[in-house]
Amino acid sequence: MHHERSFRHVQITAVGSYLPPKVVTNDELASMVETSDQWITSHTGIRERRWADEGTTTSELAYQAVLDLQRRHPCQIDGIICATATPDHPGFPSVASILAERLQSRGPAVDVAAGCTGFVYALEMGRLMVASALATSVLIIGAEKLSAVLDLEDRNTCVLFGDGAAAALIEASSEELFLDSYIKSEGGGSRALTIDPNSGVITMEGRSVYTFAVRVIAETIDALLARNGLSIGDIDWIVPHQANLRIIAACAKRYEIAEEKFYMNIDRYANTSAASIPIALAEMESTGLLKKGQRIMLVGFGAGLTYGGNLLIWR
Ligand code: ACO
Repeated sequence: MHHERSFRHVQITAVGSYLPPKVVTNDELASMVETSDQWITSHTGIRERRWADEGTTTSELAYQAVLDLQRRHPCQIDGIICATATPDHPGFPSVASILAERLQSRGPAVDVAAGCTGFVYALEMGRLMVASALATSVLIIGAEKLSAVLDLEDRNTCVLFGDGAAAALIEASSEELFLDSYIKSEGGGSRALTIDPNSGVITMEGRSVYTFAVRVIAETIDALLARNGLSIGDIDWIVPHQANLRIIAACAKRYEIAEEKFYMNIDRYANTSAASIPIALAEMESTGLLKKGQRIMLVGFGAGLTYGGNLLIWR
């Protein structure tokens, strides 16, 4: 049978999120490692984070996020892309495959490993799937259980990360609301941020990642503006990966962008890697910050090193 393949317009039609209930404050961490609420808050902007229980898997966090999305927007799914650095199983089956079984989806199911840029990458892959009619309703998920890969004796890293999941649905649209993506990598930095295969925990060169982040956030914003004939005043919100408040403050100052244009919630969730951007989007939608017609820029950066962004019009 002939299968029709023509390029279609796409849009994000729904979002949803899930944060595990257990809150871990900076003071609680200070009872485990040599740190303080004052140091963590002043150097990162983080006040607390969520950690999932030991028995809760990344796919369970993701499933709960999808249920939240389906409560807001009942839908059938025929494609799943899950961005994660902390899959239930090393290698396979993917988190997306586990979700495909639970959601009874028979379309493509695949995980994306691109560190904290995973959601930005996955969104573009989902856009291409729907645009090319490979699938019609594709879930793009960011889901992480980073508490499982923390070295609780390393104060340089264990204070920075949290758990959570969120999902966005991509569907065909009568007008183009997904304007562009800028997707990049910088392979020379592959050792700057790793989950070590022997110890199973995160290792990080904090300073070099920080410098990289400030530089590539600006590069991504500039590229998306220039390619689309826009200026920063045309953008209503920048939703950056939530790694460190100081990275965003430095970027805003150096490139003269109002800090209020960047949506931040790192104070409550810390760095949830691939989940941080969609968690922010779901929160912005449920608190009424996202309005029809607004131009939104998502900007990610992280392990790989990878970076990039997406330019959307909110539906
Ligand atoms: N509590 C107290 N002291 C600490 C802590 C802590 N939790 N962590 C580090 N320190 C100490 C260090 O040991 C160091 O002490 P020393 O000078 O006696 O050696 C001192 O603080 C200063 O260390 P710096 O590295 O200079 O601190 P900086 O101000 O750069 O902040 C940080 C460190 C927060 C890690 C910063 O470099 C950063 O945010 N980097 C980017 C990290 C990041 O975003 N990673 C994720 C990327 S996304 C992904 O894909 C996972």
